Amino acid sequence: MPSSAVTEAELISLLHFWADAGVDCCLEDAPVNRRVEMKTVAAAPRRADLRPTVAPTAMDAPRIDVVGAAARAQTMAKGCATLQDLESAISAFDGCPLSAMGARQAVFARGRPDAEVVIIGEGPGAEEDLQGAPFVGRAGRLLDRMLVASGLSDRVFITNTVFWRPPANRTPTLEEQEICAPFVARAVELVDPSCVLLLGGAAAKAVLKRPEGILSLRGRWSEWADGMSRPRPVIASLHPAFLLRQPTAKKLAWSDLLNLAGRLEPKGVSQ
Ligand code: URA
Repeated sequence: MPSSAVTEAELISLLHFWADAGVDCCLEDAPVNRRVEMKTVAAAPRRADLRPTVAPTAMDAPRIDVVGAAARAQTMAKGCATLQDLESAISAFDGCPLSAMGARQAVFARGRPDAEVVIIGEGPGAEEDLQGAPFVGRAGRLLDRMLVASGLSDRVFITNTVFWRPPANRTPTLEEQEICAPFVARAVELVDPSCVLLLGGAAAKAVLKRPEGILSLRGRWSEWADGMSRPRPVIASLHPAFLLRQPTAKKLAWSDLLNLAGRLEPKGVSQ
């Protein structure tokens, strides 16, 4: 072995060192279309066959069969009679490209299975990927504090538009969200809440299917009918990660939460 070669043990040790230092992903100098890369890896020639080739461009990209994958998700979701069934189905589902992009596990949900409010965020981050539960990192801690302050903390079920951490915490694509959507809709049906809260622009766009930004969409009630057996009242608000960066926007998120809390039955009133 040449003296510059690194042993497997040294590599593992280096990876541990980086992980301890907080490095949770590797970024390359130029952007890489991982959807192209995934398919390319699947079809890659064996090492012995490798010859210098021209890198694939977006034009060469094999397309993801979004409609087919979403239809498979729909069939699987419909067959789930409980939230546990749904969690198992999501873990077994390989139709979302995100599940093969480095996520450690599927991250489904936390909270009450009979909650009055379903909260839908964007997608798992690094901490969620590690722990297997949504909103357990910094943004999640802020969300929890807001829920406690508004009296909602034991009245919610929390999930995301996608169930696998997008590489480098990028925003999930509309295709990835569309593929996961039947599972999200089924979770809402099974919990059967009084209303749904969408956190951030990505969740609002995926569900409301409107072009406006979150600052225009937030704070207004509408109905979520697509994929639902009956329409659900839905409201969008600002994402807690945004609030960490823009603390002055907290007053808007707070007024949205109070708006939502005011729509629920007062606590202790049986339904
Ligand atoms: N942000 C989200 O949108 N969802 C999580 O689960 C965590 C952070």
